[in-house]
Amino acid sequence: MEHLKIGFIGGGNMARSLVGGLLMTGWSGDRIRVCEPDAEKRDYFEQQFGVRVSSDNPPAVHGNDVIVLAVKPQVLREALRPVLTDFQKYRPLVVSIVAGARERDIQRWLGGEAAIVRAMPNTPALVGSGATGLYANAFANEQQREVAESLMRSVGATVWLNEEAMLDVVTALSGSGPAYFMYFMEALEQAAVGHGLAPDTARLLTLETCLGAAKLAIKSNETLPELRRHVTSPGGTTEWALRVMDEAGLPDIIQRAFAAAATRATEMADTLGDQS
Ligand SMILES: NC(=O)c1ccc[n+]([C@@H]2O[C@H](COP(=O)([O-])OP(=O)(O)OC[C@H]3O[C@@H](n4cnc5c(N)ncnc54)[C@H](OP(=O)(O)O)[C@@H]3O)[C@@H](O)[C@H]2O)c1
Repeated sequence: MEHLKIGFIGGGNMARSLVGGLLMTGWSGDRIRVCEPDAEKRDYFEQQFGVRVSSDNPPAVHGNDVIVLAVKPQVLREALRPVLTDFQKYRPLVVSIVAGARERDIQRWLGGEAAIVRAMPNTPALVGSGATGLYANAFANEQQREVAESLMRSVGATVWLNEEAMLDVVTALSGSGPAYFMYFMEALEQAAVGHGLAPDTARLLTLETCLGAAKLAIKSNETLPELRRHVTSPGGTTEWALRVMDEAGLPDIIQRAFAAAATRATEMADTLGDQS
């Protein structure tokens, strides 16, 4: 992988964390180009990371092995228009992190026969603790899949999916998931403050408990219900709290919230794909 060159279309938050991740994993700045219309952002990439930058998008494709699509969904179609001719000439692997942009639509906008890997990362990727679902189309070969995986692994954990439709489920799980946990932690923190704990103390204990529970589950071979039972003594405090959550129908609420997110992900992808 030492000889590969990569170009980013869009130099926003995700591109910033992915470029940071690549440099951390041994890529040199001269093998990375970021194409971004905003001069301040370009300066940041140049000065902070020592990568090449451009104000227009075709240089992302020129002589590069990989291009990363890292613009907002609503501007993707426009961002790809100027690279169409060069793309058909150079045919780099396309890694798209654009939420809701389907392989068949990217394929159409790039003129066809493109090796495409779609990746659905999440916000903790910004601090190197992301969780990314990956899907590769039939044009992507084994080496290209490895390149895409190592790119996304530079900002967190990765999993491969066999069906593209599963990316909508991943969006509802890990894509939107950080906000669910924030919401739960916010309520927990408020409850503790309501019972007299100082706000700083409540915040610290809430965040560390969430992080600790996740770390414990990751390091353990036991299932989540088994781990939960270990910390739930019969007749104890935890059991009483969980009983209230069960009686309020929390599992059903989570099921319905999840279904709403997955349905919305599909609808948004449909709308994006309606662009000609
Ligand atoms: N952030 C996340 O946690 C996350 C998670 C999963 C997926 N994603 C996906 O990742 C993509 C990027 O997200 P982000 O948070 O990095 O967004 P962002 O910070 O808004 O970055 C997008 C960048 O693209 C630039 N841009 C706009 N039009 C362009 C064009 N025609 N050509 C090239 N660049 C252009 C924008 O510049 P201006 O600001 O000057 O317009 C901006 O700097 C999105 O599609 C999002 O769905 C993000």
